[in-house]
Amino acid sequence: MKSLLIDNIGYLTTNDPTIGEGALGVLRDASLVIEGGRVAEVGGSGGDADHRIDAAGRCVIPGFVDSHTHLVFAGNRAEEFAARMAGRPYEAGGIRVTTEATRAASDQLLRELTAARREEAMRAGITHLEIKSGYGLDTVTERRCCEIATQFTDDTTFLGAHVVPEEYLDRVDAYVSLVCGEMLEACAPLCRWIDVFCERGAFDAEQSRAILEAGRAAGLGLRVHGNQLGPGPGVQLAVEVGAASVDHCTYLDDDDIAALAGSSTVATFLPATDFSTRQPYPDARRAIDAGVAPAIATNCNPGSSNTTSMSFCIALAVRDLGMTIEEAVLAATRGGARALRRDDVGHLAPGARGDALLLDAKTPADLVYRPGVPLIAETIVGGRVYTGPG
Ligand code: NIG
Repeated sequence: MKSLLIDNIGYLTTNDPTIGEGALGVLRDASLVIEGGRVAEVGGSGGDADHRIDAAGRCVIPGFVDSHTHLVFAGNRAEEFAARMAGRPYEAGGIRVTTEATRAASDQLLRELTAARREEAMRAGITHLEIKSGYGLDTVTERRCCEIATQFTDDTTFLGAHVVPEEYLDRVDAYVSLVCGEMLEACAPLCRWIDVFCERGAFDAEQSRAILEAGRAAGLGLRVHGNQLGPGPGVQLAVEVGAASVDHCTYLDDDDIAALAGSSTVATFLPATDFSTRQPYPDARRAIDAGVAPAIATNCNPGSSNTTSMSFCIALAVRDLGMTIEEAVLAATRGGARALRRDDVGHLAPGARGDALLLDAKTPADLVYRPGVPLIAETIVGGRVYTGPG
C-alpha cells in the first residue's frame, strides 16, 4: 500500500495529549505520514512519500467516529417532520412507518440507499461508523438489514428491540421472546453489538434487561437507547449491565449522572435529535464536570435525526449542550471510538488507522464558528484520499 504525506499543517490535532499540547494533543507546523493504512509519523517535516498533500497552513483532525446510526432503511418521513415543526410531538411509534417501507424494499434497494448514506457521511468526514438494524422487526428483515450493514462497517448492531411491531402490539412478551430467541440467533453472527430502546412506548427496564442479557449470552457487546423522551431507567440499566454506551441522555437526573460518572459507560449525546424533535437539550456540561465520559453521534435515521453532519452536531454540542469546542471535537472522534470500545480510530498517534480530515480552516474551532459551511476539504481513509465509492 502506498504512503501519504500531509505537510505544512498549521494545526494538527492528534487527540493524544502525550504527543502534543492540551487534550487535543495539538502540534503546530507539523506533518503527518501514513503508511500501509496506519499513521507512521507525526510532527516532523515528513520526507518522501508516494503522495503528498500540501495543507498550506490549514488544520488536520482525526476522522469523525459516528457511534450511533440507523443507516439501513427505506422510505421518507418528511411529512412527520414538518408536522413536528408545526407543533406535533415526536413519538417512538413513527418507527413502525419506516418498518413498513423497509420490509417492502428489496435487498438491492436497501443496499443502494445505505451506500448513498454512507457516501454522504464519508464526504461529511465520518471515516468510521456504527450501523444498527431496527427497521425490520421480523427475523427475515432484521437479518437482511444486519447483512447490509456489515457491508459498510464492522460495528454492526442488532436492534430488533427498537419498538414492538404492529402485529405484536397485543403480545409484547411474545415479541421479547422472539427478539431473545430466533431473531437474535439469526442476527448475532453478523453483529458486534446488541441495543435496546428502553423508553416509554418501546421496552421497559425488565424487558430491556432480558434482551441485553440474551445478547450478552450470544457474545454481543451491549448498548442502550435511554432517557430520550423523558426521565427513565435506561441510563441506570446501561450502567448496571456494563453497557459500552447509553445514547441520547436527554434527561439526566443527579443519580443518572452519578451512576455514569462512576462507570465505564460512555454517555453518547445526539444533539441533532434534540434539534429535530424539538426536545430540550441535555446539560452535557454538568455531566462532564461530574466526570462522565461523553461522545457525540449523528443518530442518522429517517424519524428523529435525518443528518450525516457531525459538524452540525459539534456546533450544537457547543452552542446548546455547554461543551467547549475542544470537548466537542474530542467527543466526535475519540469519544465515539471509546463508545465503540476501539483504540484504532479517533486519534492520530502512530499505529492508529490513517483516517484524517483536512479542514478548510486554521483550527477546528471553525466547525462551530462557521456553522453550516462545508469545511471538509479532504477525507482521508486508511491513508487514501476519499474520492467516491469503489
Ligand atoms: O435513536 N430512539 C429510537 N430510535 C431512533 C428514532 C427512530 C425513528 O424515529 O425512526 C432514535 O432517535
